[in-house]
Amino acid sequence: MQITHPLIRSLQLENPIILAPMAGITSLPYRRVMKDFGAALVYTEMVSANGLIRDGRKTRELLVSCPEEAPLGVQLFGDDPQVLAEATRMIAGECTLLDINMGCPVKKVIRSGAGSALLKEPVRIGKIVRAVRAEYDGPLTVKIRSGWDLDNINFIEVGKIIENEGADAITLHPRTRSQAFGGKADWQQITVLKRTVKIPVIGSGDIFSADDGICMLQETGCDAIMIGRGGYGNPWLIRDILALLSGQKKSDVTAQEKLNVAMRHLQWHREQFGDRKTLFEMRKHLCWYARGLTGAGKFRGELQKATSLEQLIAQVENFYHEADNG
Ligand SMILES: Cc1cc2nc3c(=O)[nH]c(=O)nc-3n(C[C@H](O)[C@H](O)[C@H](O)COP(=O)(O)O)c2cc1C
Repeated sequence: MQITHPLIRSLQLENPIILAPMAGITSLPYRRVMKDFGAALVYTEMVSANGLIRDGRKTRELLVSCPEEAPLGVQLFGDDPQVLAEATRMIAGECTLLDINMGCPVKKVIRSGAGSALLKEPVRIGKIVRAVRAEYDGPLTVKIRSGWDLDNINFIEVGKIIENEGADAITLHPRTRSQAFGGKADWQQITVLKRTVKIPVIGSGDIFSADDGICMLQETGCDAIMIGRGGYGNPWLIRDILALLSGQKKSDVTAQEKLNVAMRHLQWHREQFGDRKTLFEMRKHLCWYARGLTGAGKFRGELQKATSLEQLIAQVENFYHEADNG
């Protein structure tokens, strides 16, 4: 294999590795870390179209970006073609790539008719893509699951509609809504979609090692792969996939390197969100970075007890100091 440069409308990617949109995870500091390790494209978490047009300050905060992370994909969710079109009009000038979420399985989103609930309404899917396409000249992608449930797998029909209405790429997470995150993602469905549509197909689901990444590219023929949960505390996954694609070997990660990246991530988070939010939100990331190191379990417990960011940072430094000497 070799490094390819997928073309999504006018956007040529540096390589075929993309950071998945993940609510509560892919904020600017996290995206910057993954970008640093080579992700060719990073996505915001899903942003409510309704929230945007109601001028929600909180919704707008999700769009904050910086030049270092470019190109950035913004993901919108909603159920109403006109609302999505209006939200698109509002942000068209400030985004390099736009994505529409048609895969979210979360109850609150489903109840509003958005996310994977749309898979039950292929006609509406067509109307949404058409309405957004009419407002946006840039690269437009749509992210779907394979269907609502195992009796209603319709990603082929939905994929064709999305392509016909003018989207530039489709991401498939090959699980149904009712599967949520259970079982294994059925990569064979990515192969089938790739053979069905002419626009680029991005594969998402269960890439936890560099070998998984290579395997998905080879087995399915997809144009690019998305890194989701496998990248938690492990941006080296992207570096390793890129190494394998270039015919090089994966490299080991030292405790010192983990400390450096975890601290850089924390500092970026602090600059962006301030001390209090960082204290609460960085805990999970710090646990993920520490996975596999001696004493990680005890460290996880200690992090929950920290009452200030200074205390949290001291715990991190102490843990890695001991891991290095252990
Ligand atoms: C915590 C979490 C939040 C997610 N949020 C979103 C989201 O906002 N938009 C979206 O399209 N997919 C979302 N996803 C789905 C991922 O983008 C991805 O398709 C899925 O996790 C499968 O990939 P993985 O096995 O590599 O994690 C989310 C997944 C997780 C675990």
